[in-house]
Amino acid sequence: MIKNRSFWLISSISLLEPIDIVAQLGYHITMLDAKFLNDADFELFRSLIYAESGITFTATNRAILESRIKDHLRDKKLTVKEYYGEISKNKEELKIFLSLITTNLTSFFRNDGHFQALEKHVIPELINNIKKTSSGNIKLWCAGCSTGQEPYSIAMLLSEILPPSWKFDITASDISLKCLMTAKEGFYKENNVDGIPQKYLDKYFSKVDGGYKVLSSLSSKIKFDYHNLKNDSGQRNLDIVFCRNVIIYFDEAAQTAVINRFWDSMSPKSFLFIGHSESLFGMNTKFEFVKTQWATLYRKNT
Ligand SMILES: C[S@@+](CC[C@H](N)C(=O)[O-])C[C@H]1O[C@@H](n2cnc3c(N)ncnc32)[C@H](O)[C@@H]1O
Repeated sequence: MIKNRSFWLISSISLLEPIDIVAQLGYHITMLDAKFLNDADFELFRSLIYAESGITFTATNRAILESRIKDHLRDKKLTVKEYYGEISKNKEELKIFLSLITTNLTSFFRNDGHFQALEKHVIPELINNIKKTSSGNIKLWCAGCSTGQEPYSIAMLLSEILPPSWKFDITASDISLKCLMTAKEGFYKENNVDGIPQKYLDKYFSKVDGGYKVLSSLSSKIKFDYHNLKNDSGQRNLDIVFCRNVIIYFDEAAQTAVINRFWDSMSPKSFLFIGHSESLFGMNTKFEFVKTQWATLYRKNT
Protein backbone atom coordinates (compact mmCIF):
# COMPACT_ATOMS: atom_id res chain seq x y z
CA MET A 1 0.00 0.00 0.00
CA ILE A 2 1.22 3.52 -0.88
CA LYS A 3 -0.36 5.30 2.07
CA ASN A 4 0.91 8.80 3.05
CA ARG A 5 2.91 9.05 -0.18
CA SER A 6 2.70 11.95 -2.66
CA PHE A 7 2.56 11.27 -6.35
CA TRP A 8 1.64 13.17 -9.50
CA LEU A 9 -1.49 12.35 -11.40
CA ILE A 10 -1.47 13.50 -15.00
CA SER A 11 -4.90 13.06 -16.39
CA SER A 12 -6.72 14.58 -19.31
CA ILE A 13 -10.19 13.40 -18.49
CA SER A 14 -10.75 13.21 -14.75
CA LEU A 15 -13.80 15.09 -13.51
CA LEU A 16 -12.59 14.77 -9.92
CA GLU A 17 -10.87 17.62 -8.09
CA PRO A 18 -7.65 16.58 -6.27
CA ILE A 19 -9.48 17.05 -2.98
CA ASP A 20 -12.14 14.50 -4.01
CA ILE A 21 -9.49 11.96 -4.92
CA VAL A 22 -7.69 12.52 -1.63
CA ALA A 23 -10.94 11.95 0.20
CA GLN A 24 -11.69 8.78 -1.72
CA LEU A 25 -8.28 7.15 -1.70
CA GLY A 26 -6.62 8.65 1.32
CA TYR A 27 -3.61 9.59 -0.82
CA HIS A 28 -2.02 13.01 -1.18
CA ILE A 29 -2.24 13.79 -4.88
CA THR A 30 -1.36 16.88 -6.94
CA MET A 31 -2.79 17.45 -10.42
CA LEU A 32 -0.20 18.59 -12.97
CA ASP A 33 -1.17 20.35 -16.22
CA ALA A 34 -4.43 18.39 -16.44
CA LYS A 35 -6.44 19.18 -19.57
CA PHE A 36 -10.16 18.70 -19.37
CA LEU A 37 -10.83 18.72 -23.14
CA ASN A 38 -8.75 16.78 -25.61
CA ASP A 39 -7.53 18.80 -28.61
CA ALA A 40 -10.29 17.58 -30.93
CA ASP A 41 -13.03 18.50 -28.42
CA PHE A 42 -11.41 21.87 -27.73
CA GLU A 43 -11.51 22.55 -31.48
CA LEU A 44 -15.21 21.60 -31.67
CA PHE A 45 -16.22 23.90 -28.79
CA ARG A 46 -13.94 26.68 -29.97
CA SER A 47 -15.40 26.65 -33.50
CA LEU A 48 -18.98 26.55 -32.26
CA ILE A 49 -18.41 29.48 -29.87
CA TYR A 50 -16.73 31.52 -32.59
CA ALA A 51 -19.44 30.83 -35.15
CA GLU A 52 -22.22 31.65 -32.70
CA SER A 53 -20.78 34.72 -30.93
CA GLY A 54 -17.45 35.92 -32.37
CA ILE A 55 -15.75 35.13 -29.03
CA THR A 56 -12.35 33.66 -29.77
CA PHE A 57 -10.60 31.03 -27.68
CA THR A 58 -6.99 30.15 -28.40
CA ALA A 59 -4.28 28.16 -26.64
CA THR A 60 -3.73 31.20 -24.39
CA ASN A 61 -7.22 31.29 -22.86
CA ARG A 62 -8.08 27.59 -23.37
CA ALA A 63 -7.82 26.89 -19.63
CA ILE A 64 -10.60 29.43 -18.90
CA LEU A 65 -12.94 27.69 -21.34
CA GLU A 66 -12.06 24.28 -19.95
CA SER A 67 -12.67 25.27 -16.36
CA ARG A 68 -16.06 26.85 -17.18
CA ILE A 69 -17.24 23.78 -19.09
CA LYS A 70 -15.92 21.53 -16.36
CA ASP A 71 -17.81 23.36 -13.60
CA HIS A 72 -21.01 23.29 -15.65
CA LEU A 73 -20.75 19.61 -16.51
CA ARG A 74 -20.25 18.66 -12.89
CA ASP A 75 -23.82 19.91 -12.25
CA LYS A 76 -25.29 18.50 -15.46
CA LYS A 77 -23.74 15.05 -15.14
CA LEU A 78 -23.08 14.73 -18.88
CA THR A 79 -19.94 13.69 -20.72
CA VAL A 80 -18.18 16.27 -22.88
CA LYS A 81 -19.45 14.59 -26.06
CA GLU A 82 -23.05 14.42 -24.81
CA TYR A 83 -22.92 18.07 -23.82
CA TYR A 84 -21.51 19.16 -27.18
CA GLY A 85 -24.34 17.25 -28.87
CA GLU A 86 -26.89 19.01 -26.67
CA ILE A 87 -25.69 22.57 -27.32
CA SER A 88 -25.30 21.90 -31.06
CA LYS A 89 -28.93 20.80 -31.36
CA ASN A 90 -30.76 22.90 -28.79
CA LYS A 91 -30.74 26.70 -29.22
CA GLU A 92 -31.81 27.38 -25.63
CA GLU A 93 -28.98 25.23 -24.24
CA LEU A 94 -26.61 27.03 -26.59
CA LYS A 95 -27.71 30.39 -25.12
CA ILE A 96 -27.04 29.13 -21.61
CA PHE A 97 -23.67 27.80 -22.71
CA LEU A 98 -22.67 31.13 -24.32
CA SER A 99 -23.71 32.92 -21.11
CA LEU A 100 -21.43 30.81 -19.03
CA ILE A 101 -18.30 31.21 -21.13
CA THR A 102 -18.40 35.04 -21.16
CA THR A 103 -16.22 37.29 -19.02
CA ASN A 104 -18.40 39.85 -17.27
CA LEU A 105 -16.06 42.11 -15.33
CA THR A 106 -17.52 45.62 -14.99
CA SER A 107 -18.00 48.44 -12.48
CA PHE A 108 -19.80 51.76 -12.02
CA PHE A 109 -18.20 54.68 -13.87
CA ARG A 110 -15.49 52.39 -15.21
CA ASN A 111 -12.83 54.47 -16.95
CA ASP A 112 -13.79 57.95 -15.78
CA GLY A 113 -12.23 59.60 -18.87
CA HIS A 114 -15.04 58.21 -21.05
CA PHE A 115 -17.68 59.75 -18.80
CA GLN A 116 -15.84 63.08 -18.84
CA ALA A 117 -15.70 62.94 -22.65
CA LEU A 118 -19.41 62.09 -22.77
CA GLU A 119 -20.28 65.04 -20.56
CA LYS A 120 -17.86 67.65 -21.88
CA HIS A 121 -17.52 66.77 -25.55
CA VAL A 122 -20.20 64.44 -26.91
CA ILE A 123 -23.36 65.83 -25.32
CA PRO A 124 -22.53 69.52 -26.02
CA GLU A 125 -21.58 68.57 -29.58
CA LEU A 126 -24.83 66.66 -30.15
CA ILE A 127 -27.06 69.36 -28.68
CA ASN A 128 -25.34 72.53 -29.92
CA ASN A 129 -23.73 71.55 -33.21
CA ILE A 130 -25.48 68.47 -34.54
CA LYS A 131 -29.14 68.58 -33.53
CA LYS A 132 -29.26 72.34 -32.94
CA THR A 133 -32.72 72.25 -31.41
CA SER A 134 -33.90 73.46 -28.03
CA SER A 135 -35.39 70.08 -27.13
CA GLY A 136 -34.99 66.53 -28.30
CA ASN A 137 -34.06 62.96 -27.49
CA ILE A 138 -30.68 61.22 -27.27
CA LYS A 139 -30.75 57.54 -28.31
CA LEU A 140 -28.00 55.45 -26.80
CA TRP A 141 -27.09 51.76 -27.01
CA CYS A 142 -24.92 50.10 -24.42
CA ALA A 143 -23.84 46.85 -26.10
CA GLY A 144 -22.29 44.17 -23.88
CA CYS A 145 -23.66 45.80 -20.72
CA SER A 146 -22.86 42.87 -18.42
CA THR A 147 -24.59 43.25 -15.01
CA GLY A 148 -25.80 46.79 -15.68
CA GLN A 149 -23.29 49.06 -13.94
CA GLU A 150 -22.33 50.71 -17.25
CA PRO A 151 -25.83 51.68 -18.48
CA TYR A 152 -26.86 52.81 -14.98
CA SER A 153 -23.74 55.01 -14.81
CA ILE A 154 -24.58 56.55 -18.19
CA ALA A 155 -28.21 57.06 -17.14
CA MET A 156 -27.18 58.83 -13.92
CA LEU A 157 -24.82 61.12 -15.78
CA LEU A 158 -27.30 61.98 -18.54
CA SER A 159 -30.04 62.63 -15.96
CA GLU A 160 -27.74 65.17 -14.33
CA ILE A 161 -26.30 66.95 -17.36
CA LEU A 162 -29.01 67.08 -20.01
CA PRO A 163 -31.04 70.30 -20.17
CA PRO A 164 -34.60 69.72 -18.81
CA SER A 165 -36.11 69.92 -22.31
CA TRP A 166 -33.93 67.01 -23.48
CA LYS A 167 -34.72 63.34 -22.90
CA PHE A 168 -32.75 60.17 -23.45
CA ASP A 169 -33.38 56.48 -23.82
CA ILE A 170 -30.90 53.67 -23.41
CA THR A 171 -31.04 50.15 -24.77
CA ALA A 172 -28.65 47.88 -22.88
CA SER A 173 -27.95 44.41 -24.20
CA ASP A 174 -25.82 41.40 -23.53
CA ILE A 175 -25.45 37.78 -24.58
CA SER A 176 -25.39 36.62 -20.94
CA LEU A 177 -28.87 35.87 -19.62
CA LYS A 178 -27.56 35.67 -16.08
CA CYS A 179 -26.00 39.13 -16.33
CA LEU A 180 -29.19 40.58 -17.78
CA MET A 181 -31.19 39.23 -14.84
CA THR A 182 -28.83 40.96 -12.39
CA ALA A 183 -28.93 44.15 -14.45
CA LYS A 184 -32.74 44.21 -14.54
CA GLU A 185 -32.99 43.52 -10.82
CA GLY A 186 -30.68 46.48 -10.15
CA PHE A 187 -29.44 45.26 -6.78
CA TYR A 188 -25.75 45.78 -5.96
CA LYS A 189 -23.85 44.75 -2.84
CA GLU A 190 -22.14 47.42 -0.73
CA ASN A 191 -18.71 46.61 -2.15
CA ASN A 192 -20.00 46.99 -5.73
CA VAL A 193 -21.12 50.61 -5.49
CA ASP A 194 -17.67 52.06 -4.81
CA GLY A 195 -17.45 54.05 -8.05
CA ILE A 196 -20.75 55.88 -7.55
CA PRO A 197 -20.43 59.46 -6.23
CA GLN A 198 -22.28 59.75 -2.90
CA LYS A 199 -24.76 62.33 -4.22
CA TYR A 200 -25.80 59.93 -7.04
CA LEU A 201 -26.06 57.02 -4.61
CA ASP A 202 -28.40 59.07 -2.41
CA LYS A 203 -30.47 60.23 -5.35
CA TYR A 204 -30.79 57.14 -7.57
CA PHE A 205 -30.60 54.17 -5.13
CA SER A 206 -32.43 53.04 -2.05
CA LYS A 207 -30.53 51.36 0.78
CA VAL A 208 -31.71 47.78 1.22
CA ASP A 209 -30.46 44.82 3.23
CA GLY A 210 -26.86 44.06 2.17
CA GLY A 211 -26.61 46.71 -0.53
CA TYR A 212 -28.39 49.19 -2.76
CA LYS A 213 -31.25 48.97 -5.23
CA VAL A 214 -31.65 51.21 -8.27
CA LEU A 215 -34.78 53.38 -8.08
CA SER A 216 -37.38 52.96 -10.80
CA SER A 217 -36.97 56.64 -11.78
CA LEU A 218 -33.56 55.57 -13.16
CA SER A 219 -34.23 51.99 -14.28
CA SER A 220 -37.24 53.15 -16.32
CA LYS A 221 -34.82 54.96 -18.66
CA ILE A 222 -33.15 51.68 -19.67
CA LYS A 223 -34.52 48.82 -21.73
CA PHE A 224 -32.52 45.64 -21.06
CA ASP A 225 -32.56 43.18 -23.91
CA TYR A 226 -30.89 39.93 -24.96
CA HIS A 227 -28.80 40.56 -28.04
CA ASN A 228 -25.94 38.66 -29.63
CA LEU A 229 -23.57 41.05 -31.41
CA LYS A 230 -23.12 38.47 -34.12
CA ASN A 231 -26.48 39.70 -35.49
CA ASP A 232 -27.88 43.07 -36.55
CA SER A 233 -29.82 44.53 -33.62
CA GLY A 234 -32.30 46.27 -35.94
CA GLN A 235 -31.67 49.57 -34.16
CA ARG A 236 -31.24 52.66 -36.32
CA ASN A 237 -30.42 56.36 -35.83
CA LEU A 238 -28.54 55.91 -32.58
CA ASP A 239 -26.70 59.01 -31.35
CA ILE A 240 -24.24 57.18 -29.12
CA VAL A 241 -23.03 53.58 -28.91
CA PHE A 242 -21.05 52.28 -25.95
CA CYS A 243 -19.39 48.92 -26.54
CA ARG A 244 -16.50 48.82 -24.14
CA ASN A 245 -14.34 45.82 -23.28
CA VAL A 246 -16.36 43.48 -25.50
CA ILE A 247 -14.61 43.26 -28.88
CA ILE A 248 -11.37 42.49 -27.09
CA TYR A 249 -12.69 38.90 -26.89
CA PHE A 250 -13.22 38.71 -30.70
CA ASP A 251 -10.73 38.13 -33.49
CA GLU A 252 -10.15 40.79 -36.14
CA ALA A 253 -12.77 39.53 -38.59
CA ALA A 254 -15.47 39.38 -35.92
CA GLN A 255 -14.47 42.79 -34.58
CA THR A 256 -14.74 44.38 -38.02
CA ALA A 257 -18.16 42.82 -38.60
CA VAL A 258 -19.49 44.12 -35.26
CA ILE A 259 -18.06 47.61 -35.78
CA ASN A 260 -19.60 47.83 -39.27
CA ARG A 261 -22.98 46.77 -37.87
CA PHE A 262 -22.67 49.62 -35.34
CA TRP A 263 -22.08 51.97 -38.26
CA ASP A 264 -25.38 50.88 -39.85
CA SER A 265 -27.28 51.40 -36.61
CA MET A 266 -25.99 54.93 -35.99
CA SER A 267 -27.13 58.41 -37.06
CA PRO A 268 -25.14 60.25 -39.75
CA LYS A 269 -23.47 62.27 -36.98
CA SER A 270 -22.93 60.13 -33.91
CA PHE A 271 -20.34 58.76 -31.48
CA LEU A 272 -18.88 55.38 -30.61
CA PHE A 273 -17.08 54.50 -27.37
CA ILE A 274 -14.97 51.35 -27.20
CA GLY A 275 -12.76 50.16 -24.32
CA HIS A 276 -9.57 52.12 -23.66
CA SER A 277 -7.47 49.05 -24.46
CA GLU A 278 -9.39 48.47 -27.71
CA SER A 279 -8.76 50.22 -31.01
CA LEU A 280 -10.08 50.50 -34.56
CA PHE A 281 -6.57 51.21 -35.80
CA GLY A 282 -5.90 49.30 -39.03
CA MET A 283 -9.48 48.09 -39.24
CA ASN A 284 -11.45 48.55 -42.42
CA THR A 285 -14.11 50.96 -41.05
CA LYS A 286 -15.33 54.46 -41.88
CA PHE A 287 -15.29 55.74 -38.29
CA GLU A 288 -13.18 58.84 -37.60
CA PHE A 289 -10.89 58.94 -34.61
CA VAL A 290 -11.68 61.73 -32.10
CA LYS A 291 -9.09 62.67 -29.53
CA THR A 292 -10.42 64.70 -26.61
CA GLN A 293 -8.48 65.71 -23.53
CA TRP A 294 -10.35 63.10 -21.48
CA ALA A 295 -10.45 60.05 -23.74
CA THR A 296 -10.32 58.92 -27.34
CA LEU A 297 -13.50 57.90 -29.10
CA TYR A 298 -14.89 57.50 -32.61
CA ARG A 299 -17.30 59.49 -34.76
CA LYS A 300 -19.55 58.61 -37.65
CA ASN A 301 -19.42 61.70 -39.78
CA THR A 302 -21.48 61.50 -42.96
C1 LIG B 1 -15.99 42.47 -19.81
S1 LIG B 1 -17.69 42.71 -20.00
C2 LIG B 1 -17.75 44.45 -20.30
C3 LIG B 1 -18.91 45.10 -19.62
C4 LIG B 1 -19.00 46.60 -19.81
N1 LIG B 1 -19.21 46.95 -21.18
C5 LIG B 1 -17.79 47.30 -19.26
O1 LIG B 1 -16.94 47.76 -20.02
O2 LIG B 1 -17.67 47.40 -18.04
C6 LIG B 1 -18.00 42.02 -21.63
C7 LIG B 1 -19.46 41.72 -21.87
O3 LIG B 1 -19.64 41.46 -23.25
C8 LIG B 1 -20.60 40.43 -23.39
N2 LIG B 1 -20.46 39.78 -24.72
C9 LIG B 1 -19.44 39.02 -25.16
N3 LIG B 1 -19.70 38.56 -26.39
C10 LIG B 1 -20.91 39.06 -26.75
C11 LIG B 1 -21.72 38.94 -27.93
N4 LIG B 1 -21.35 38.21 -28.98
N5 LIG B 1 -22.90 39.59 -27.94
C12 LIG B 1 -23.28 40.34 -26.89
N6 LIG B 1 -22.58 40.49 -25.75
C13 LIG B 1 -21.39 39.85 -25.68
C14 LIG B 1 -20.30 39.50 -22.23
O4 LIG B 1 -21.40 38.69 -21.89
C15 LIG B 1 -19.91 40.48 -21.12
O5 LIG B 1 -20.98 40.76 -20.26
